[in-house]
Amino acid sequence: MSDDHTHVQEFFGARAADWDSRFPDDGPAYAAAVAELGLHEGARVLDAGCGTGRALPPLRAAVGRSGLVVAADLAPAMLQAAVRAGRDRAGRLLLTDVAALPLRSRSLDAVFAAGLISHLPDPAGNLTELARVVRPGGVLALFHPIGRAALAARRGRRITPDDLRAEPRLRPLLAGSGWRMTSYADEDARFLALAVREG
Ligand SMILES: C[S@@+](CC[C@H](N)C(=O)[O-])C[C@H]1O[C@@H](n2cnc3c(N)ncnc32)[C@H](O)[C@@H]1O
Repeated sequence: MSDDHTHVQEFFGARAADWDSRFPDDGPAYAAAVAELGLHEGARVLDAGCGTGRALPPLRAAVGRSGLVVAADLAPAMLQAAVRAGRDRAGRLLLTDVAALPLRSRSLDAVFAAGLISHLPDPAGNLTELARVVRPGGVLALFHPIGRAALAARRGRRITPDDLRAEPRLRPLLAGSGWRMTSYADEDARFLALAVREG
C-alpha cells in the first residue's frame, strides 16, 4: 500500500462516521449536479470517490432500475458509512483506487466525481483512467457543493492561481487526459465542471 493510500484512508477514516451529519443540507445540490449529467434511463455511471454515497440515490433515480450505478472509494470507513446509510441499495460499492478501476474500457456513459480531484496524487493519470472507462461522447462531472473561494474562506485561506481547479489549470489538465471541458461554474454554493470524453 502506498503512502498516498494510507493518507487518504486515515484522513477520511477519521471523518467517515460524521461525514453526512457535518453537511446535512447538501442533498439538493447533489441532485442538481447529477441532473446536469443528462443521464437517461438505462445509463451506466460511476461515482468516483463516492465517500458515504451521497450522490448514489440521485444517480440511481436518473438511470432507473435498468441502469448501472457503481461507486468507487479507497477508504473502507467511507464505504462502511455508505452501507450504514443504506446507499448500497442504490449502487454497487467498490473498494478501489480510481487510479486502477476494475471496469472495462468504454463501458460507462458517465462519471460523477464530488470532492475527489484535489485529493488525487496524479490528477492527469487518474483523469486518464476515468476517461478509459467512459465511451466517447460520455460525460464527466467534477463537483463540489461549495465554490473554491467559499471553501478556502471556511479553512481560513484564499484561493491561489495554481489551484488545480482554477479554470486556466483545469481546462488543459482535462484536455491532456482525454476530456474536453464543456462548462465551468465556480460559485459560492457550488463548483461544477463538465467535460465530454473525446473520441
Ligand atoms: C471529499 S471526499 C468526497 C466524498 C463524496 N464524493 C462526497 O461528495 O460526499 C473525497 C473521497 O474521495 C476518496 N478518494 C480519495 N482519493 C481516492 C482514490 N485515489 N481512489 C478512490 N477514492 C479516493 C476519499 O476516500 C473520500 O471518500
